[in-house]
Amino acid sequence: MSARRRKLDAPVRAPRATNIRGRQRQRLIDACISALHIYGPSRTTVEKVVAIAKMSPGIVRFYFDSKAAMLVASLQFLAAEFEEQVLVPVAKLKARPVAALELMVDLYLDPDIASPRKVSVWYAFWGEASSRQEYYDICGQKDESFAALVRELIGRLVEETSQAHLDPDAIALGLIGALEMMWQDFAFQAEGNIDRLAAKRRCVAYLRSIFPGQFSHPTTREGGPAAHPARFAGWVYASARAYALEREAVFQSAWQVAGHESQIARAGEYFTVDMGAERALLVRDSFGQIHALRNSCPALPHTLVVGGSGRFDGSIACTVHGLQFALDGRRTGGAPGIGLSALDLQVIRGLLVVRSPKSPRASPANPGGAFEPIPPGLVATGPAAQTAVAADWKLLVEQWLDSAALSTAPNAAAESLHWTMPPAGARHWSAQRYRTLAGAGASGAWQMRFIAPNQLLQLRPDGVSILQAMPAAPGRSRVRRLDYTVCGAGRAARAMRYLAARTSSFERPSALALVESVQRGVIDYGYQAAAMRPIAPAIAWFRQQLLMRIPMLALDRPPTDC
Ligand code: FES
Repeated sequence: MSARRRKLDAPVRAPRATNIRGRQRQRLIDACISALHIYGPSRTTVEKVVAIAKMSPGIVRFYFDSKAAMLVASLQFLAAEFEEQVLVPVAKLKARPVAALELMVDLYLDPDIASPRKVSVWYAFWGEASSRQEYYDICGQKDESFAALVRELIGRLVEETSQAHLDPDAIALGLIGALEMMWQDFAFQAEGNIDRLAAKRRCVAYLRSIFPGQFSHPTTREGGPAAHPARFAGWVYASARAYALEREAVFQSAWQVAGHESQIARAGEYFTVDMGAERALLVRDSFGQIHALRNSCPALPHTLVVGGSGRFDGSIACTVHGLQFALDGRRTGGAPGIGLSALDLQVIRGLLVVRSPKSPRASPANPGGAFEPIPPGLVATGPAAQTAVAADWKLLVEQWLDSAALSTAPNAAAESLHWTMPPAGARHWSAQRYRTLAGAGASGAWQMRFIAPNQLLQLRPDGVSILQAMPAAPGRSRVRRLDYTVCGAGRAARAMRYLAARTSSFERPSALALVESVQRGVIDYGYQAAAMRPIAPAIAWFRQQLLMRIPMLALDRPPTDC
């Protein structure tokens, strides 16, 4: 793309609006992007857009003066999304150019930004930019900002590695060209045929060839960033760097079950939860609507509501300086000001599923598919239980996945894995008693589902248990357990839950003791797992998922700025 650019003063807006008008407008923009992908700018019509959006033709006039304005808005949306999801998070890592460049490659080739649909639309606009100044300006500014950031990061790295003979401009141009080639390749392929991991590897390989020893090194035959590493190096399980990267690049974008709507059945009721990368406050307002808010005062980022659950008397008050907030998070008390930040919330079968807003990382807009097998009519059997574990959260997950009996090797792009677990041992007293209480259905296999990065669902005849491995500190984690029954809220339901827990190998103290012992083996004694047996496919998939998000986890040693 051309380097001749003119600065455009278009404001950067949040890519996704949240009010009704904003959502309708966004729906039209999404449909417009799809139409542009299918028909190109010149053959895209208002009729085609509203047909894709399943909206009435007249509504377009409500939001856009003309077809041309709608096309420009779509391009502006793509540009703002690129800025928010690529430029901003990468720029935050400027002080660490290796991490920033790895993240840049990661994000630039991410399916949320570089889907065939979006990439082809970018090129379609570029194709018409010579005759449309607005297109030229928006596309140009995006490329110019990106090139400037690449140039700055390469310049910093050249300086940091004391390689004054290197030409930052030429190296930056090479990286931009490599990324551009990948985009061109993506534009003409179906998503299922795109090998994003290979594309990322090639770009990082380019950087590695210029800055040896600085970037994650592949270990597989094909040169992939350890698609199936025997084990992460010890630092990955205990360093502050890995902990911070995982919270930002993995947990902020992860949909996590916070609880169940039945926990806040009445107006004003709330509960709080620490989701690993977010402190969340779930509250029901006087209209019955549930809100997921950041549990932090906007004036000072302390925990706003301390205590697990309760009922507000109409408003939320900060005890430090007395700020007041409505139950939907708005500031009240006559003073204008920032309210409580809203988190993304989905209600799935009554479960309240939450993630950080404006996540810089890709995650599905709607996580419903992964939770599909959960039955309706769930009732919580009690508050969530939490257990502190003196081991990294990844070791907990790997313990769960070690027993996953998968029928086929998992697809790297899968967001969840599922398998069945045979009924608990026939002679175990708890198993016998469980079968007596659960009745005829109890003899069937339990359904297990792991939802990346950290949630294990156990679907049984009596209900569902959800285990979450939460990072708590470097080398420390929490297991959070939520139990829901489909058998009503009586003693029998609680008894079945108790008996099921006794027969589940994941919850025994010995299982947690084993994980903690492995942590000490890796960190305190520097042991590597012996290659006595092939690595479980589910564990390989889990590590691959992490590496796709954080390539530097493949390093043998922590990066130099750790
Ligand atoms: S810290 Fe909350 S009102 Fe000041």
